[in-house]
Amino acid sequence: MIDQILAAKDSAVARLAAATSSDDVRAVELEVLGKKGSLTDLKAGLGKLATIEEKKQAGRALNEATTEVSAALAARLGEFRRSERAVQLEVERLDLTEVTRKPGRGHAHVVTQAWQRLEDAFIGLGFQVAEGPEVETDWYNFEALNMPANHPARSMHDTFYVDHGAPGSTVLRTHTSPVQIRVMQTTPPPIYMVMPGRVFRNETTDATHLAVFHQIEGLVIDRGITLADLAGTIESFTKAFFGEGFTSRLRPSYFPFTEPSAEFDIRTPKGNWLELGGCGMVHPNVLRAGGIDPEEFSGFAFGFGIDRMAKERHSINDVREMYTNDIRFLEQF
Ligand code: PHE
Repeated sequence: MIDQILAAKDSAVARLAAATSSDDVRAVELEVLGKKGSLTDLKAGLGKLATIEEKKQAGRALNEATTEVSAALAARLGEFRRSERAVQLEVERLDLTEVTRKPGRGHAHVVTQAWQRLEDAFIGLGFQVAEGPEVETDWYNFEALNMPANHPARSMHDTFYVDHGAPGSTVLRTHTSPVQIRVMQTTPPPIYMVMPGRVFRNETTDATHLAVFHQIEGLVIDRGITLADLAGTIESFTKAFFGEGFTSRLRPSYFPFTEPSAEFDIRTPKGNWLELGGCGMVHPNVLRAGGIDPEEFSGFAFGFGIDRMAKERHSINDVREMYTNDIRFLEQF
């Protein structure tokens, strides 16, 4: 019996040493310690032994053999688990640093480009750049611009109201003109300033209108400024920004904050006219709201859409495309 036990154990240990995978190890386990395993069979035969002493010795030998085989099984299984896991990791490995496509550098958004080019053109003409808040008081957005409560011109600006302070006292600015007042209040003349920024109108968007868009405002305040200076500045800007082949014209119009007021158009080399923005001589009430004496100083102001400039420059059909963030669209500019 003891010889059989030792033989079963030795054969198990030898086969474990020769195993080449965890599956081999499990097969040995089944054949030796499983329900019909060799050591299990021998254990069942213990009862048939003749003497107690024989049973004791065989029992001890069986226990030792089982312990030894179990330890060898566990050790081999551990080795194979480790190496098999390493193989599996290698097979399933993803190289996240692998470059499949040359990474692009990216560039400024088409509207940001227009914004920067506009700033550059005005800086070239001697202007400085200022910015104001996007959330404004009713006073800066309307009142100080000669649009008191119930003024009909307020209806030109469908306004988003902000739930802050007294009802109707806080708005998302509907134009960049309130920055004129802020600049006048903080900068003693002479003022030669452009003020780009985001503006908001509570209106339905379509191919030519956005509820959130950008304007650039211009303000000049100095002694003896006349409408001729306004027309000359618009003309210089037109040529600096669009090119020598372009010219401009002013058409009479109405804004509460300028008097007289005009729309300005540019003429392309092909001869068609493009409506660009509004302008005029700063109204005396507006100068006073900005703390400037209209007897001593005069000035002009203008304002136009930056998004529209980008649209015209690149012949974009639908302004909404510029804000859907489809990289295939944006990459073109
Ligand atoms: N603020 C006007 C608008 O949004 C444009 C404008 C600016 C007109 C300055 C005259 C002077 O339409």
